[in-house]
Amino acid sequence: MSARIILFGATGYTGGRTAEAMAARGLRPVLAGRDPARLAAVAERLGGLETARADVTDEGSVAALVGPGDVLVSTVGPFVKLGRPAVSAAVDVGAIYLDSTGEPPFIREVFERRGPAAERTGAALLTAFGNDYVPGVLAGALALRAAGEGAARVDVGYFITGAGRGQAFSRGTLRSVIGVATEQVYAWRDGALRTEPAGARLRTFDVAGRPRPGVTIGGTEQFALPRLAPGLRTADVYLGWFGAASRAVHLGSRATPWLGRVPGTSRALAAMAGLLTRTATEAPSAEALAGMRSHFVAEVFDDSGTLLARTRLTAPEAYTITADLLAWGAGRAAGHGVRGSGALDPVAAFGLDELTAGAAEAGIVPADGSY
Ligand SMILES: NC(=O)c1ccc[n+]([C@@H]2O[C@H](COP(=O)([O-])OP(=O)(O)OC[C@H]3O[C@@H](n4cnc5c(N)ncnc54)[C@H](OP(=O)(O)O)[C@@H]3O)[C@@H](O)[C@H]2O)c1
Repeated sequence: MSARIILFGATGYTGGRTAEAMAARGLRPVLAGRDPARLAAVAERLGGLETARADVTDEGSVAALVGPGDVLVSTVGPFVKLGRPAVSAAVDVGAIYLDSTGEPPFIREVFERRGPAAERTGAALLTAFGNDYVPGVLAGALALRAAGEGAARVDVGYFITGAGRGQAFSRGTLRSVIGVATEQVYAWRDGALRTEPAGARLRTFDVAGRPRPGVTIGGTEQFALPRLAPGLRTADVYLGWFGAASRAVHLGSRATPWLGRVPGTSRALAAMAGLLTRTATEAPSAEALAGMRSHFVAEVFDDSGTLLARTRLTAPEAYTITADLLAWGAGRAAGHGVRGSGALDPVAAFGLDELTAGAAEAGIVPADGSY
């Protein structure tokens, strides 16, 4: 018998798409959120699902959503602002938890602070279980397996091609990006996790037939890949979404740690977030998403800098991947459980072969047609 799945955030753009992806797999999640009327509309559309009311500002209502052994999926973001009550609820009762965050400070908090508490209660925490950062962990793990002994450094890159005109991100994603814009991120360097600004490193990857730049960001890879290859000295994640502006982002990163300390900067960012709230639409434009492809590259080097292995994956746009990965992960966790407790990365939770198969169901496949 399958465990109960609760989807918190089902009225949002990502939550709505995740609810649809779950229903398409025959799952019957309990849809949770703060607005009963809007929840009822989604539940009705997806064949009469159960609903539950919970608001982050009332932590008891979030705690009441989840019981021991349940699978709680949260798409309520920005996570640094709204994400903690759902993690706490899962940790307290020993549930399995997945979320859609891409915010580095939240990911770090889950691995460093929430993981040890989860180990004590038997909870399993799978943070950032969407486009950020499952495909890069998968690509990195596959490249490390292919490289064998001697891996000293792994570079992972995230790229998109074919974006049409219009808003390419949901309002929720834009809010989350602004919320962490002045935060420090982290890198795996000299065999340890170090704090550094986003964009501190810049490099070019060969993607879909041409060189494309990316700048460093904190992901799940910095936690996951050193677990797989204990000799790894460096693990970096590069975001290639800025295109030609990557160099400016990289140079600007030297100023980033200071931004948050400049009086008025937080206020300016809050004002920008407010403006976005008024001007951005909840959903990205269909025109922007149509034809968009995601590309993920992982390259493994030895300590002399010689390339040992490269894995290239390709997939549909980020929201499709995120909804499908969350639906697959929740369904798999509900039916078969996960391996271990604490803060788990996707490979640790499911095993590399299982994750490879699940990712393929979400459309994440090798760029050259075979592994
Ligand atoms: N990892 C990835 O690759 C990836 C991909 C997609 C999205 N994301 C992230 O996922 C998050 C959600 O994105 P989105 O596009 O779905 O945003 P969204 O459309 O704004 O949805 C946010 C959801 O949070 C709910 N919420 C807000 N305040 C709440 C509160 N106090 N209590 C309970 N629920 C509350 C909203 O409920 P109402 O409807 O009642 O306002 C809504 O359901 C963002 O952080 C985004 O960055 C990450």
